[in-house]
Amino acid sequence: MDLVVRDARLHPTGGTRTEPVDVGVEGDRIVAIRPRGGLAGQHTTELEADGRLLSPPLVDPHVHLDAVLTVGEPRHNESGTLIEGILTWAERKRSLTHEDVKERAREAILWEVGQGTGLIRSHVDVCDPNLVALRALLELREELADIVDLRLIAFPQDGILSFPDGKALMREAMRLGCDVIGGIPHYEWTREDGVEEVHFLFELARETGRDIDLHCDETDDEQSRFLEVVAADTIREGMGGRVVAGHTTAMGSYNDAYAFKLLQILKRAGVTIVANPLDNISLQGRFDSYPKRRGMTRVKELDAAGVNVACGHDSIMDPWYPLGRGSMLDALSMLVHVGQMTGRGELFRAFEMVTSNPARAARVEYGVKEGRPANFVVFDCEDEAEAIRLRPAARWVVRAGRLVAETQPAMTVVRHAGSEHRVTFAKREGAPA
Ligand code: FE2
Repeated sequence: MDLVVRDARLHPTGGTRTEPVDVGVEGDRIVAIRPRGGLAGQHTTELEADGRLLSPPLVDPHVHLDAVLTVGEPRHNESGTLIEGILTWAERKRSLTHEDVKERAREAILWEVGQGTGLIRSHVDVCDPNLVALRALLELREELADIVDLRLIAFPQDGILSFPDGKALMREAMRLGCDVIGGIPHYEWTREDGVEEVHFLFELARETGRDIDLHCDETDDEQSRFLEVVAADTIREGMGGRVVAGHTTAMGSYNDAYAFKLLQILKRAGVTIVANPLDNISLQGRFDSYPKRRGMTRVKELDAAGVNVACGHDSIMDPWYPLGRGSMLDALSMLVHVGQMTGRGELFRAFEMVTSNPARAARVEYGVKEGRPANFVVFDCEDEAEAIRLRPAARWVVRAGRLVAETQPAMTVVRHAGSEHRVTFAKREGAPA
């Protein structure tokens, strides 16, 4: 075979540890999964996983690649608020060039790929008569196709009805080759404009046959209720499984009776919700004194109600969030803390929010199974809960059967009492559970 990974633990369902296996690849497909030792013989490339977790690739369903790595340009967002972020971005946007966007986005993609992300859905601001960022990212999508599946979402940062020629720019973005239709109804000047925007997105979906992935209710205003409009339109248009709503932080402020009703129609509609905990724990609650809201959508309740929930990175060193290193496990770690999903089963469930759940929303062929594309990652840990706790190195990243990234795990030694202690951050073998 072209590639064999020996002694790996597969991403189990429900958190049950599975027996180690050998995974065999020919060309760009997984052709064999056998109990450990089952793929003997000589193979072109052989990797010893030593019981490490072999996971399907991480998925980042929500990032803004046009804005990455612009932190401090032209100035820092000193208040740290969403609005200063938007105003700072409006200034920076004036100096965007084709090469500037490509260079920064390429760098951020390499960071993500090196840490195990194989599918990225990026919003790209189309409130620009020249669509500079979009043209740059469309090129990059092709140039980096060997290492990442990049999907672009036409994102009207300044609104569609509230921005000159907003509808024409959205149509032009789709005509140029954008994959998905974005939106931002809560940012329109009026409630009515927001509702009209949502209807327009579905009209555009009908015209183009494309899916929808909009920013929705990213505010602490409990009166911001565009998600119900999105759910209703999804049902009426028969677009179940093809609509994603990002952020939806207002859901954290709704009263429980309304939230209950909303959960029911979201489930019926088949809308995916993407939480972006890194940005939103920092940006929301800024008008509160104490108690201060957490600024995240109801991840745990949505998941329990049967709604498809995913976790995005959102920002990597941009005007909204100065931190970040493109690690989906960093984002997920924040999600389980903010969303209080630290139960044993909840940690395993949460891992699906950066793997199979966003993959389902993107409607891609996915998962470590015979016959599937040979896309996977071997993490330097034993299972998903450890992946969230340790945020370990992606030892090997394989895409279409090719080893596209590898990381040497760090090694820590502590010198004490005349000897050296190798620290692995693992629970002591044999210690009581
Ligand atoms: Fe976003």
